[in-house]
Amino acid sequence: MIKKIGILTSGGDSPGMNACIRAVVRTALYHNINVIGFLKGYEGLIDNDFIELKRESVSGIIQKGGTILKTARSERFMKDDGVLKAAENLKNNNVDAMIIIGGDGSFKGAIELGKHISIPIVGCAGTIDNDLVGTDFTIGYDTAINTVIEAIDKIRDTAESHDRIFVIEVMGRDAGLIALRTAIASGAEGLLVPEIKHDTESLVEKMKNWRSTKSSKIIVVAEGDQSGGGFKVAEMIKKNIPEFDVRVSILGHIQRGGNPSCMERVNASIVGYNAVKAVMTGHTNEMVGIINKQVVYTPFTKAVKHHQKLNKDLEELIEILSS
Ligand code: F6P
Repeated sequence: MIKKIGILTSGGDSPGMNACIRAVVRTALYHNINVIGFLKGYEGLIDNDFIELKRESVSGIIQKGGTILKTARSERFMKDDGVLKAAENLKNNNVDAMIIIGGDGSFKGAIELGKHISIPIVGCAGTIDNDLVGTDFTIGYDTAINTVIEAIDKIRDTAESHDRIFVIEVMGRDAGLIALRTAIASGAEGLLVPEIKHDTESLVEKMKNWRSTKSSKIIVVAEGDQSGGGFKVAEMIKKNIPEFDVRVSILGHIQRGGNPSCMERVNASIVGYNAVKAVMTGHTNEMVGIINKQVVYTPFTKAVKHHQKLNKDLEELIEILSS
């Protein structure tokens, strides 16, 4: 019988986390379960820093980016002492279940926590990177890619006016999923992502063959790409094709903020609602996700180990459509 749920947001924030928190709190209260929110992710769990979450605590937050619970990448939680302290605090506070909203680092932390306390622990995939297996879209991804294409559309205007090449670096340390979708949606001429190996020679060759009647060119680069990021790619182009007028734009943390899109708010609400139902029905060490409109539960160990694969056809699609 679950009487009290603890919730936290951890790792990089993402738009839609608030909608998910709201769904968890309101669903739990509907079932007469109290909710406490730990602040700054696992840091709050270690320091026993929490707030009680009532209906009104989550009023007016569904449309807001960021996370009202704040977040952190806790180094202390990566050590045994930190995990033990967190487990002890959960026991002392009579917390019967934990819901963790975050990405792969957060779920690795959840796996460690689960070794020291036997309560249901369920995750909601919250990261702009979309790099978890077990859900089509993580909370934050849709908003982030919309932010990116808004920016690229604006850059395209100035690139056209000056006949320039723009190298645009987007987030994604280990995954190129933000880059892939935004390259398609912005009609980019080039895509560089960590999942697809490339060499300078063939890249240069390809660029030299770009249609000359097309005045602007956009290359979307994921920050984790083997090239070393936007500035390195621009350097490489200048060195090999000096006649090209190249500029770089690093979009950075703008991608993590802003009001969540409609799809984000809906998905985050579905995931939060189902996370409460999951802990009530004994699910543990699993992430709640949505695949083909169906709610699915994936063990943390699987969700964090395998990144989503890039659809190779989409790479070809970018080339054909932008030629
Ligand atoms: O994991 C989400 C993410 O935005 C990555 O895309 C990016 O590499 C990283 O976080 C940046 O993290 P921080 O804000 O801690 O520098």
